[in-house]
Amino acid sequence: MFLSISIFLFFVLPLCGGMESGIIGGKEAKPHSRPYIVSVQIDKHHKCGGLLIRKDYVLTAAHCFDNIEYSGKKQLEVVLGAHNISRKEHQQQRIEVQKYIMHPCYRKNERPNDIMLLKLKSNAKLNKAVKVIALPEEDESIPANQLCLIAGWGKTAQNSAESSVLKEATLKVQFNFECRNIWKDRFLADSMICTVSDGKKAFCQGDSGSPLICGNEPIGIAAYTFGGNCLNRKFPEERKSMLLSSVFVWWSTDMLFTISLVVLSVIHSCGGMESSIIGGKVAIPHSRPYMVSVQNDKKHKCGGLLIRKNYVLTAAHCADNIEYSGKGQLEVVLGAHNISKKEHEQQRIKVKKCIKHPCYRKDERANDIMLLKLKSNAKLNKNVTVIALPKEDKDIPANRLCSIAGWGKTAQNSAASNVLKEVTLKIMSNSECKDAWQMYFDSYNMICTNVDGKNAFCQGDSGSPLICDNQPQGIAAYTFSGNCLNDKYPEVYMKISSFLPWIKQVIG
Ligand SMILES: *[C@@H]1O[C@H](CO)[C@@H](O)[C@H](O)[C@H]1NC(C)=O
Ligand SMILES: *[C@@H]1O[C@H](CO)[C@@H](O)[C@H](O)[C@H]1NC(C)=O
Ligand SMILES: *[C@@H]1O[C@H](CO)[C@@H](O)[C@H](O)[C@H]1NC(C)=O
Repeated sequence: MFLSISIFLFFVLPLCGGMESGIIGGKEAKPHSRPYIVSVQIDKHHKCGGLLIRKDYVLTAAHCFDNIEYSGKKQLEVVLGAHNISRKEHQQQRIEVQKYIMHPCYRKNERPNDIMLLKLKSNAKLNKAVKVIALPEEDESIPANQLCLIAGWGKTAQNSAESSVLKEATLKVQFNFECRNIWKDRFLADSMICTVSDGKKAFCQGDSGSPLICGNEPIGIAAYTFGGNCLNRKFPEERKSMLLSSVFVWWSTDMLFTISLVVLSVIHSCGGMESSIIGGKVAIPHSRPYMVSVQNDKKHKCGGLLIRKNYVLTAAHCADNIEYSGKGQLEVVLGAHNISKKEHEQQRIKVKKCIKHPCYRKDERANDIMLLKLKSNAKLNKNVTVIALPKEDKDIPANRLCSIAGWGKTAQNSAASNVLKEVTLKIMSNSECKDAWQMYFDSYNMICTNVDGKNAFCQGDSGSPLICDNQPQGIAAYTFSGNCLNDKYPEVYMKISSFLPWIKQVIG
């Protein structure tokens, strides 16, 4: 269920804060009194604010880089320790951006998850003018009416140029329900906060990415406000409101992410912890040497595929109900045909870490994909091989025949299979999938196959790869609850190729 909250953003007003956004009202900051504030620059021009959260990481808004085709030709830099950015101050440190990491759920021109990390080419030298600011430890809600502060180098009046010196203004946090009244579906209370302005003070173009500081903590990243007029007086009851993505974060493979999801009631789907092949036939032993049985306490839970000596790709919901304590009850079995036997081809390896897609949430359908990092490398041989992922994000044409294998149930009410079974299924067009599953189907990162009433994947097959032309294209995710053969509901897979950037980010 789509995390692409995009879908809920039907009419986005033109918003101030595109590439740039500046403090209107407020006052000039005391030079170097906010040593964590950063000017994010493209080709030496100020684009956005940001904040230094580690010696080598800056946090800013993702839309700051919406319009750059990063070819290595654009100069992406941050300037630390600045007050007047039109000058070469001796406190300034100009550092190149080595890599930018947009929130994996962010999409250009959409408002949710508008947050980005910039990895710097070299560490900032910390001193009086350049300091790191600590992020909030946990997801805190900021009481309405609290006065917070925003600082930036953006425009100082609706039609003026940007400010050369850092300005700051105090703004009042708004009640979530009021933000929601004003911004409707564009405001996501679990990952955004908003501030009201009094008609005199506001942030504006050039301030995007600037932190909202409450007490001594950075609580928000300036994201958007009204298009054309940051001081819009007409809008609901002469109220103005600015949205800030709030930063509640955890470190994950050295990155931090905000999560924002709209929770919808989920159709109970087969594929909870388990899901198996119905119809089809027993696979030739060891003919799919990349197939993995993901097991919890020695019981088969899901399928998976070996994509590196030490990484298995599977479905995220396979670990939904496991309190993964690191005690190693989650294991993978490689090289298996009959998983009830100790075959000499088998390799049993403990899982060191479950890395669910950062946008996945339990009981939701979107982004149901997970990487398992293994405690030790698989020994590759004829019976255990790595399978290469597709190289690019491509659509699979409808009616293409693909196959899936798994150790799941072999009939609706039977037990799971001991031996690997496989079945051929036909890709369905995105529009048909969407007709059947409505909002649960996101054609951007899912694909689906026909159900003919005879062949299907079912409980125990979740996480198993759908193979088309020798390439893994899908990860079995969900199907209809109670009846995997229900022919009104096609079977749904995560589309591997749309997750390639995330997979690359994790496994390097
Ligand atoms: C910032 O520096 C520029 C270049 O030296 C100068 O022209 C400008 O007046 C300075 N701005 C302020 C507000 O001091
Ligand atoms: C799988 O192995 C178990 C245990 O040895 C055996 O009972 C079962 O018959 C085997 N299944 C098949 C289909 O060979
Ligand atoms: C792989 O499987 C084949 C066929 O079962 C077997 O002959 C061979 O010994 C196996 N290789 C290893 C390394 O287990």
